[in-house]
Amino acid sequence: MNNFTFQNKTDIRFGRDLIEGQLRDAITQFGNKVLFVYGGGSIKRSGLYEQVMRLLAGMDVVELAGVEPNPKIESVRAGQKLAKEHDVDVVLAVGGGSVIDASKVIASAKFYEGDPWELVENSALRNDIDQLPLVDILTLSATGTEMNRGSVISNMAENKKLGTYGPNTPAVSFLDPANTLTVSKWQTAAGSIDIFSHLTEQYFDRAYTPVTDGMIEGLMRTVISNAPVALAHPDDYNARGALMLASTMALNGLVGSGNENGWTVHPIEHELSAYYDITHGVGLGILTPRWMKQVLDETSQAKFAKFARNVWDIQATDDLEAAEQAIQATYNWVKSLDVPTVLQGVEIMDNQKFQVMAESAVEVGSLNTRGYKKLAPADVVAMFEAS
Ligand code: NZQ
Ligand code: ZN
Repeated sequence: MNNFTFQNKTDIRFGRDLIEGQLRDAITQFGNKVLFVYGGGSIKRSGLYEQVMRLLAGMDVVELAGVEPNPKIESVRAGQKLAKEHDVDVVLAVGGGSVIDASKVIASAKFYEGDPWELVENSALRNDIDQLPLVDILTLSATGTEMNRGSVISNMAENKKLGTYGPNTPAVSFLDPANTLTVSKWQTAAGSIDIFSHLTEQYFDRAYTPVTDGMIEGLMRTVISNAPVALAHPDDYNARGALMLASTMALNGLVGSGNENGWTVHPIEHELSAYYDITHGVGLGILTPRWMKQVLDETSQAKFAKFARNVWDIQATDDLEAAEQAIQATYNWVKSLDVPTVLQGVEIMDNQKFQVMAESAVEVGSLNTRGYKKLAPADVVAMFEAS
């Protein structure tokens, strides 16, 4: 087993309507001047916006609305300007991963004189400067951003979508499954696939990690069984709650403790989003079964067979047969969530960008040195072609 350190200071407040009695104090512990960041309007339609404004009555609140899915650097720049102009004490993010991701970088950019894209390209810069405390109310179960240090920001002018890491996880995260009851079927499916992908990226690893493997298998089964329930019954609080807690636990660092490989499918999907602005989880759903097929060999067969038996309840005694059935089961599950399973389904109709995206994914994700199975650009192109 490998050495590791694990620390996560996010104060999680899970459950129904806790913001009513707790939001104001959660924010005022850091000050009175708040930058309230949200997306394209879902929180106005659900009533959450009004509730938050009522709870913050009398405080000094400045708003940044309109953060896009696959959040763009322009929104971060706008947030940096507001945070500086109003000298805010704390950022309140209300929304999905995109809103929270942008807010984390804004929280750093308040203390940076240059263009925040520099912070995205070079996370190390963020560790040398301060970061405003972030309070969030999560409205979509997917990314795990509610309990991690990461953000993913897009710069469409440069066709780049990059991960960046700040010094802190959110200070306080309110996780109320009821706030996710209005999430569309498309985003529910995409979010569930995203959670599942975070788990596969950490499960398929060469280190001896029996403890976290067991945790991951339980989380995978939870997502596999609850996603269809949330799709069929969007207002099922328990299914939504299971997805929410699974999202948080899948990517708060715990189940990746002691890992030694890097991630593969995420850097590849980020290229698709950088060039075609597709929904992250849908891209992962298309790529994951293809990636599994590509990395299945004698060295990974036993791990795939374990995945087959412990996650998919596959009975085949032969490891290779079990592994192949598990890959098919993964594909079938994605398909059952009613999202596209081929690139053409997300309107990527030609192979013009395959080479450039493959080269960038290998470079950004160090896929040729850190992948579960090391991949060269030609392997990634082959994966795109199989998709
Ligand atoms: O913008 P609004 O109007 O709020 O609508 C959003 C958006 O259109 C809508 N939505 C959110 N909550 C809703 C809702 N609609 C109805 N009811 C609700 N309760 O859903 C749409 C998508 O929202 P978004 O925040 O983009 O989705 P998600 O949470 O899946 O975040 C995706 C982004 O996170 C990044 C992805 O790459 C992508 O940019 N990731 C961040 C990670 C991290 N920070 O650790 C890790 C992930 O692997 C991922 O890469
Ligand atoms: Zn993801």
